[in-house]
Amino acid sequence: MLIDVITIFPEMLAQPLSVGVLGRAIEDGLLTVRVQDLRDFTHDRHHVTDEPPYGGGPGMVMKPEPFFRAVCHCRSTGPSAGRARVVLMTPQGRRLTHHLSEEMAREEHMILLCPRYEGIDERVRQWVATHELSIGDYVISGGEIAALAAIDAVGRLVPGVLGHPESSLTDSFAAPGLEGPQYTRPFAYRGLKVPDVLRSGDHGAVDRWHREQARMRTLMRRPELLSKRGEWQYDRERFDGS
Ligand code: ADE
Repeated sequence: MLIDVITIFPEMLAQPLSVGVLGRAIEDGLLTVRVQDLRDFTHDRHHVTDEPPYGGGPGMVMKPEPFFRAVCHCRSTGPSAGRARVVLMTPQGRRLTHHLSEEMAREEHMILLCPRYEGIDERVRQWVATHELSIGDYVISGGEIAALAAIDAVGRLVPGVLGHPESSLTDSFAAPGLEGPQYTRPFAYRGLKVPDVLRSGDHGAVDRWHREQARMRTLMRRPELLSKRGEWQYDRERFDGS
Protein backbone atom coordinates (compact mmCIF):
# COMPACT_ATOMS: atom_id res chain seq x y z
CA MET A 1 0.00 0.00 0.00
CA LEU A 2 1.17 3.52 -0.82
CA ILE A 3 0.13 6.47 1.33
CA ASP A 4 0.97 10.04 0.33
CA VAL A 5 0.64 12.74 2.99
CA ILE A 6 0.46 16.35 1.81
CA THR A 7 1.44 18.84 4.51
CA ILE A 8 3.29 22.08 5.19
CA PHE A 9 4.95 20.37 8.20
CA PRO A 10 6.61 17.25 6.79
CA GLU A 11 8.90 17.05 9.81
CA MET A 12 5.88 16.19 11.99
CA LEU A 13 5.49 12.85 10.26
CA ALA A 14 9.07 11.58 10.04
CA GLN A 15 9.75 10.44 13.59
CA PRO A 16 6.42 8.73 14.37
CA LEU A 17 6.68 6.79 11.09
CA SER A 18 10.18 5.58 11.92
CA VAL A 19 9.39 3.57 15.08
CA GLY A 20 7.41 0.53 16.23
CA VAL A 21 5.08 -1.53 14.08
CA LEU A 22 4.74 1.15 11.39
CA GLY A 23 8.47 1.83 11.24
CA ARG A 24 9.12 -1.88 10.68
CA ALA A 25 6.34 -2.20 8.09
CA ILE A 26 7.83 0.69 6.14
CA GLU A 27 11.32 -0.74 6.43
CA ASP A 28 10.05 -4.12 5.19
CA GLY A 29 8.33 -2.48 2.22
CA LEU A 30 4.81 -3.60 3.25
CA LEU A 31 3.79 0.03 3.45
CA THR A 32 5.24 3.04 1.67
CA VAL A 33 4.58 6.51 3.06
CA ARG A 34 5.65 9.49 0.97
CA VAL A 35 5.51 12.77 2.84
CA GLN A 36 4.98 15.60 0.34
CA ASP A 37 5.85 19.17 1.27
CA LEU A 38 2.97 21.31 0.03
CA ARG A 39 5.38 24.22 -0.46
CA ASP A 40 7.11 22.24 -3.23
CA PHE A 41 3.90 22.70 -5.24
CA THR A 42 3.81 26.50 -5.01
CA HIS A 43 5.11 28.59 -7.90
CA ASP A 44 5.89 31.88 -6.13
CA ARG A 45 9.17 32.94 -4.59
CA HIS A 46 7.86 32.86 -1.00
CA HIS A 47 6.07 29.50 -1.31
CA VAL A 48 2.79 30.93 -0.08
CA THR A 49 0.17 28.31 0.80
CA ASP A 50 -2.47 30.46 2.53
CA GLU A 51 -4.38 33.69 2.03
CA PRO A 52 -7.00 35.67 3.97
CA PRO A 53 -10.56 34.42 3.39
CA TYR A 54 -12.79 36.06 0.77
CA GLY A 55 -15.56 38.01 2.49
CA GLY A 56 -13.42 38.63 5.55
CA GLY A 57 -13.21 36.71 8.79
CA PRO A 58 -10.49 35.52 11.11
CA GLY A 59 -7.33 33.62 10.19
CA MET A 60 -6.09 32.30 6.91
CA VAL A 61 -7.40 29.76 4.40
CA MET A 62 -5.20 27.35 2.47
CA LYS A 63 -4.98 28.08 -1.24
CA PRO A 64 -6.32 25.52 -3.72
CA GLU A 65 -3.60 25.45 -6.40
CA PRO A 66 -0.79 23.75 -4.40
CA PHE A 67 -3.20 20.99 -3.30
CA PHE A 68 -4.45 20.46 -6.87
CA ARG A 69 -0.88 20.21 -8.14
CA ALA A 70 0.34 18.01 -5.29
CA VAL A 71 -2.52 15.52 -5.70
CA CYS A 72 -1.94 15.45 -9.46
CA HIS A 73 1.70 14.63 -8.82
CA CYS A 74 0.87 11.89 -6.29
CA ARG A 75 -1.72 10.30 -8.60
CA SER A 76 0.56 10.32 -11.61
CA THR A 77 3.42 8.73 -9.67
CA GLY A 78 1.19 6.25 -7.83
CA PRO A 79 0.44 2.61 -8.60
CA SER A 80 -3.26 2.60 -9.40
CA ALA A 81 -3.55 4.61 -12.62
CA GLY A 82 -4.92 7.65 -10.82
CA ARG A 83 -7.57 5.74 -8.86
CA ALA A 84 -6.34 6.85 -5.43
CA ARG A 85 -8.57 7.55 -2.43
CA VAL A 86 -7.96 11.24 -1.71
CA VAL A 87 -8.78 11.91 1.93
CA LEU A 88 -9.21 15.35 3.44
CA MET A 89 -8.47 15.32 7.18
CA THR A 90 -11.19 17.41 8.83
CA PRO A 91 -13.41 17.29 11.93
CA GLN A 92 -16.32 17.51 9.47
CA GLY A 93 -15.44 14.13 7.94
CA ARG A 94 -16.66 10.57 8.51
CA ARG A 95 -15.47 9.33 11.88
CA LEU A 96 -12.53 6.90 11.87
CA THR A 97 -13.56 3.48 13.19
CA HIS A 98 -12.17 -0.03 13.00
CA HIS A 99 -14.64 -0.83 10.23
CA LEU A 100 -13.56 2.20 8.18
CA SER A 101 -9.88 1.33 8.79
CA GLU A 102 -10.55 -2.13 7.32
CA GLU A 103 -12.15 -0.52 4.28
CA MET A 104 -9.16 1.79 3.81
CA ALA A 105 -6.67 -1.04 4.31
CA ARG A 106 -7.96 -2.54 1.04
CA GLU A 107 -6.85 0.53 -0.96
CA GLU A 108 -3.74 0.39 -3.09
CA HIS A 109 -3.08 4.13 -2.90
CA MET A 110 -4.29 6.82 -0.49
CA ILE A 111 -3.49 10.51 -0.47
CA LEU A 112 -4.08 12.31 2.84
CA LEU A 113 -4.51 16.10 2.76
CA CYS A 114 -3.59 17.93 5.97
CA PRO A 115 -5.04 21.43 6.22
CA ARG A 116 -3.90 24.01 8.77
CA TYR A 117 -5.21 27.41 9.89
CA GLU A 118 -8.93 28.08 9.47
CA GLY A 119 -9.18 25.39 6.83
CA ILE A 120 -8.92 24.88 3.14
CA ASP A 121 -10.45 26.43 0.03
CA GLU A 122 -13.79 24.72 -0.60
CA ARG A 123 -12.78 23.79 -4.15
CA VAL A 124 -10.25 21.30 -2.75
CA ARG A 125 -13.03 19.66 -0.75
CA GLN A 126 -15.32 19.58 -3.79
CA TRP A 127 -12.99 18.68 -6.64
CA VAL A 128 -9.89 17.04 -5.21
CA ALA A 129 -10.94 15.06 -2.12
CA THR A 130 -12.88 11.86 -2.70
CA HIS A 131 -13.40 11.30 1.05
CA GLU A 132 -13.28 13.30 4.31
CA LEU A 133 -12.04 11.81 7.56
CA SER A 134 -12.30 12.87 11.21
CA ILE A 135 -10.56 11.23 14.16
CA GLY A 136 -13.24 12.39 16.59
CA ASP A 137 -15.51 15.18 17.68
CA TYR A 138 -12.84 17.63 18.75
CA VAL A 139 -10.63 20.08 16.90
CA ILE A 140 -6.85 19.81 16.72
CA SER A 141 -4.50 22.31 15.12
CA GLY A 142 -4.08 20.58 11.79
CA GLY A 143 -4.48 17.36 9.86
CA GLU A 144 -1.05 15.84 10.54
CA ILE A 145 -1.80 14.16 13.86
CA ALA A 146 -5.11 12.94 12.47
CA ALA A 147 -3.29 11.56 9.42
CA LEU A 148 -0.84 9.73 11.68
CA ALA A 149 -3.70 8.17 13.63
CA ALA A 150 -5.30 7.01 10.38
CA ILE A 151 -2.02 5.67 8.97
CA ASP A 152 -1.46 3.70 12.19
CA ALA A 153 -5.01 2.31 12.36
CA VAL A 154 -4.97 1.35 8.67
CA GLY A 155 -1.32 0.31 8.39
CA ARG A 156 -1.55 -2.33 11.11
CA LEU A 157 -4.39 -4.02 9.17
CA VAL A 158 -2.30 -4.38 6.02
CA PRO A 159 -1.52 -8.11 5.66
CA GLY A 160 1.88 -9.00 7.10
CA VAL A 161 2.32 -5.82 9.15
CA LEU A 162 1.54 -7.38 12.53
CA GLY A 163 3.85 -10.19 13.63
CA HIS A 164 0.87 -12.22 14.87
CA PRO A 165 -2.12 -11.78 12.55
CA GLU A 166 -4.41 -12.83 15.38
CA SER A 167 -3.40 -9.84 17.51
CA SER A 168 -5.39 -7.48 15.29
CA LEU A 169 -8.37 -9.84 15.60
CA THR A 170 -8.44 -9.68 19.40
CA ASP A 171 -7.92 -5.91 19.54
CA SER A 172 -10.72 -3.84 20.97
CA PHE A 173 -13.39 -3.25 18.29
CA ALA A 174 -12.15 -6.02 15.99
CA ALA A 175 -13.57 -8.66 18.36
CA PRO A 176 -15.99 -6.69 18.37
CA GLY A 177 -16.22 -5.13 21.80
CA LEU A 178 -13.49 -4.00 24.16
CA GLU A 179 -10.46 -6.02 25.10
CA GLY A 180 -10.27 -7.31 28.67
CA PRO A 181 -7.42 -6.96 31.21
CA GLN A 182 -3.92 -8.38 30.69
CA TYR A 183 -1.25 -9.26 33.27
CA THR A 184 2.45 -10.02 33.18
CA ARG A 185 5.14 -10.77 35.78
CA PRO A 186 5.49 -10.29 38.72
CA PHE A 187 2.68 -12.45 40.11
CA ALA A 188 2.26 -10.19 43.15
CA TYR A 189 3.02 -6.48 43.11
CA ARG A 190 2.33 -4.25 46.12
CA GLY A 191 -0.07 -6.90 47.37
CA LEU A 192 -1.97 -6.98 44.05
CA LYS A 193 -2.12 -10.50 42.65
CA VAL A 194 -2.69 -11.87 39.17
CA PRO A 195 -5.96 -13.88 38.95
CA ASP A 196 -5.24 -17.57 39.72
CA VAL A 197 -6.95 -18.82 36.56
CA LEU A 198 -4.23 -17.25 34.39
CA ARG A 199 -1.64 -19.46 36.08
CA SER A 200 -3.80 -22.59 36.08
CA GLY A 201 -2.49 -23.93 32.78
CA ASP A 202 -6.09 -24.73 31.81
CA HIS A 203 -6.29 -23.11 28.36
CA GLY A 204 -10.05 -23.53 28.13
CA ALA A 205 -10.56 -21.81 31.48
CA VAL A 206 -8.15 -19.02 30.53
CA ASP A 207 -9.99 -18.48 27.26
CA ARG A 208 -13.39 -18.40 29.00
CA TRP A 209 -12.01 -15.93 31.58
CA HIS A 210 -10.72 -13.58 28.86
CA ARG A 211 -14.05 -13.69 27.01
CA GLU A 212 -16.04 -13.02 30.15
CA GLN A 213 -13.78 -10.17 31.24
CA ALA A 214 -14.00 -8.59 27.78
CA ARG A 215 -17.80 -8.94 27.84
CA MET A 216 -18.04 -7.37 31.32
CA ARG A 217 -15.79 -4.49 30.37
CA THR A 218 -17.82 -3.82 27.25
CA LEU A 219 -21.03 -4.00 29.26
CA MET A 220 -19.70 -1.48 31.79
CA ARG A 221 -18.09 0.96 29.36
CA ARG A 222 -19.75 0.56 25.97
CA PRO A 223 -23.03 -1.31 26.48
CA GLU A 224 -24.27 -0.21 23.06
CA LEU A 225 -21.78 -2.65 21.52
CA LEU A 226 -23.59 -5.62 23.06
CA SER A 227 -26.94 -6.97 22.05
CA LYS A 228 -29.80 -7.28 24.56
CA ARG A 229 -28.87 -10.92 25.20
CA GLY A 230 -25.38 -9.83 26.20
CA GLU A 231 -23.74 -11.44 23.20
CA TRP A 232 -21.35 -9.84 20.75
CA GLN A 233 -23.11 -7.86 18.16
CA TYR A 234 -21.44 -6.25 15.22
CA ASP A 235 -23.68 -3.33 14.48
CA ARG A 236 -21.89 -1.44 11.72
CA GLU A 237 -24.19 1.54 11.78
CA ARG A 238 -23.69 2.20 15.45
CA PHE A 239 -20.02 1.33 15.23
CA ASP A 240 -19.44 3.97 12.61
CA GLY A 241 -21.50 6.54 14.42
CA SER A 242 -23.26 7.05 11.10
N1 ADE B 1 -8.24 18.55 11.90
C1 ADE B 1 -8.61 19.21 13.01
N2 ADE B 1 -9.35 18.46 13.82
C2 ADE B 1 -9.48 17.24 13.20
C3 ADE B 1 -10.17 16.05 13.52
N3 ADE B 1 -10.87 15.91 14.65
N4 ADE B 1 -10.09 15.02 12.65
C4 ADE B 1 -9.41 15.15 11.50
N5 ADE B 1 -8.74 16.26 11.14
C5 ADE B 1 -8.79 17.30 11.98
